[in-house]
Amino acid sequence: MATDARTPGRTCPITYRTRASAIARLTPLQADSFYVVGGLYGNLEALDAIEALAGHEAATGLPRPQLVFNGDFHWFDAEPAWFAAVQRRVGAHTASLGNVEAELLDPQPGAGCGCAYPASTPEQTVAWSNAIMARLQEAARIADPLVNELRALPPQLRLQVGNCRIGVVHGDPESLAGWGLELDAMPPIGDSHPRLEQWFLDADVDLLASSHTCRCFAQSFPGGRAVFNNGAAGMPDFAGDSRIMITRLSRHPPVLPEGHGSVCRTRVRDAHVDAILLPWDREAFLRRFDGVWGRKSPAQLSYRRRITDGPDHHAAAACRIHA
Ligand SMILES: [Fe+2]
Repeated sequence: MATDARTPGRTCPITYRTRASAIARLTPLQADSFYVVGGLYGNLEALDAIEALAGHEAATGLPRPQLVFNGDFHWFDAEPAWFAAVQRRVGAHTASLGNVEAELLDPQPGAGCGCAYPASTPEQTVAWSNAIMARLQEAARIADPLVNELRALPPQLRLQVGNCRIGVVHGDPESLAGWGLELDAMPPIGDSHPRLEQWFLDADVDLLASSHTCRCFAQSFPGGRAVFNNGAAGMPDFAGDSRIMITRLSRHPPVLPEGHGSVCRTRVRDAHVDAILLPWDREAFLRRFDGVWGRKSPAQLSYRRRITDGPDHHAAAACRIHA
């Protein structure tokens, strides 16, 4: 079926537009270690695991990582108490907007989920996401005034680890819901392309950290630059592997507990950059998820299999670091 760019869920509201050059003007947050957590999707059990890993690092004598949530930390939490818990816990850390939070704050007529899905995404998936957004907006309305806390969030962030300069976006540097940092948009390993080069230049960064697309990858580029897209911190990222992924940026290499792993790593100036896989309590999450989303609900139909089986995606395709 032909897709219509004006269909809810495929559109990109004009308010989502951003500029790479705006990242260059931001005052950087500086720390020895950051976790960039894109796409938590309301998953409190994943958040437990992420906070536990930060605590583990601190217990081993490493600097405690600062958590940075680059959007879409709400999604499945379409129940007022669940929504409030996510807002409270994420609110204790640093956060920036995703399209989900943008549509909670100021629903755009005809935007649906605000996902700006490309033509390759099936119509049914788009319709399910729009239906999830409608339920989430209702939960957020009941949980108000917590929603107003989202209004203070910026669309982009700038981080610094030693001399490594990092731009944090949700989609890409030009749009909150942009797909320009999707795996399919990347040049062959070892190459770059003009738009990417312009983004690095305009943003004045060595590394871009993104999310939004739900498909993780990391790629290095000439000149020692890199893109890390963590896919989703609130859902499994590889087939047959239940673990969730975050991007770790640190002056120190990771010291990981059993069951964790760095699936892709590189060095960008002073920063060790790792795509970290974390085990988490999936069964507890599924009990919570099933309690809110009934058997034929859009979240069940669209996402439950991804949560139980992982996507059709593999580490070999995701790690694109040029030696
Ligand atoms: Fe998103």
